[in-house]
Amino acid sequence: MAYQFSQDSEKRFQRLIPQFPSKRSLILPCLFLLQADKGFVDQEGMSYIAERIGAPVSLAQVHGVATFYTMYNKKPVGKFHIQICGNISCYLSGSDSITEHVCSKLGIEAGETTKDKKFTVDEVQCLGACEFGPVAQINDKYYENLTPEIIENILSELDKQV
Ligand code: FES
Repeated sequence: MAYQFSQDSEKRFQRLIPQFPSKRSLILPCLFLLQADKGFVDQEGMSYIAERIGAPVSLAQVHGVATFYTMYNKKPVGKFHIQICGNISCYLSGSDSITEHVCSKLGIEAGETTKDKKFTVDEVQCLGACEFGPVAQINDKYYENLTPEIIENILSELDKQV
């Protein structure tokens, strides 16, 4: 069956429409609805969004927005999506050691998902919390001033969750 917004996303979409007089401004929140429904943004979902928003918004514009921003997953991710900032402030604070530690603990490379689909690790661009580097975002939560020990404890806690 072709993708449609879930009931919850449809309700949210209806509430968004009057808040965004410019249809193009609906693209970003609609992509978040798609990601909430499917866990990632795909071609089918982007086509659906372009249709639902309607002209003058085109599929090419939806695709352009989705591929510009790293917060939209372009492929399925694990239950815990670990996004480690690799930008300059975090890099200078040791983000490489955080990424290496996480990947080593999980037995995967950055950009990969563990076989049990529990963890995905990605190195991303600036998360907007530069003064607190190294920073990681795991699902919707930020973790700041990370050290290998701190991230290891976080991984242990997450691993206990089903
Ligand atoms: Fe890492 Fe900005 S450089 S949050």
